[in-house]
Amino acid sequence: MTTTARAHPNIALIKYWGKAPGAGNVPAAPSLSLTLDTLMTRTSVDFAAADSFELDGQLVADPKLAACLADLRAHYPVPPLAVRSANNFPTAAGLASSASGFAALVTAINAHCRLDMDDATRSVFARRASGSAARSVFGGFVALSEPDWSAAPVLDPDAWPLRVVVAVTAAGPKSVASSAGMRRSMASPYYPAWVSSTHEDFQEALALVAARNFTALAELSEYSCLKMHGLMLASRPGLLYWNAATTTCLHRIRELRVEGLPVFFTVDAGPQVKAVCLPEAAATVASALAAVPGVIRILEAGLGAGASVEQR
Ligand code: PMV
Repeated sequence: MTTTARAHPNIALIKYWGKAPGAGNVPAAPSLSLTLDTLMTRTSVDFAAADSFELDGQLVADPKLAACLADLRAHYPVPPLAVRSANNFPTAAGLASSASGFAALVTAINAHCRLDMDDATRSVFARRASGSAARSVFGGFVALSEPDWSAAPVLDPDAWPLRVVVAVTAAGPKSVASSAGMRRSMASPYYPAWVSSTHEDFQEALALVAARNFTALAELSEYSCLKMHGLMLASRPGLLYWNAATTTCLHRIRELRVEGLPVFFTVDAGPQVKAVCLPEAAATVASALAAVPGVIRILEAGLGAGASVEQR
């Protein structure tokens, strides 16, 4: 008997970058994200003689995965498992494959081993493996915040059906993994200001989402994104996740907005650009970004559902 779960990556509009002191992989500040629909991780688990993990057809030894299994086993009886996971998008390149990956993994193990976790508990286990994974347990607009640092849904996917156009500008894995990058940024003189201002940005974003105020959310999201990359640049040595095509895409998106299109950008710990837009702008945004030199591929998504079990 195999259990298969699916989960989608999410992209943050109010970014998470930096951890609170102490154990448990607790973010230093809250974040707000969109769960995507067409990008997907599917993870299957079977009982086995020993743990094994296959990612996109390759056997891998992943310390974060081993740590996630150990964390689950500290709380629940989880026997040895054969895990097979596949992404339909580039892995570890700033497209949140760890988010969908750990949300799918915890969801699959919960169902396969009949652990009977509720959504908030799955979100906490996913968060301890990868902060952003907490948010992929839920669909639509999702918040990750105090006091318990499990994610919670803010708005259903169809309550405000935004579109996301992803411009893939590099195919390989990212240069510095997010946890290592965060550790570096936490020593930056910019870090305290980043943490305190992100708490304010998060509250403002919740109000703008409730009001469906696209124009103000666009301005605030670009601010949070560029502020995070400002902090990354002001780390030592500086974290520079962008390439030339990334920068060109950001200028292009701002030009489109000046021309009247409802679109804004966000970029995570990698060179890919995510353009968030109202549905009527998606086709124009996709063709404009496809024409940027260095853009390898365009992916399109709407807002998707939380992690779920496909087959058991
Ligand atoms: O979940 P992690 O540890 O891979 O960190 C994610 C960090 C960003 O993607 C850059 C921002 C975010 O909030 O998703």
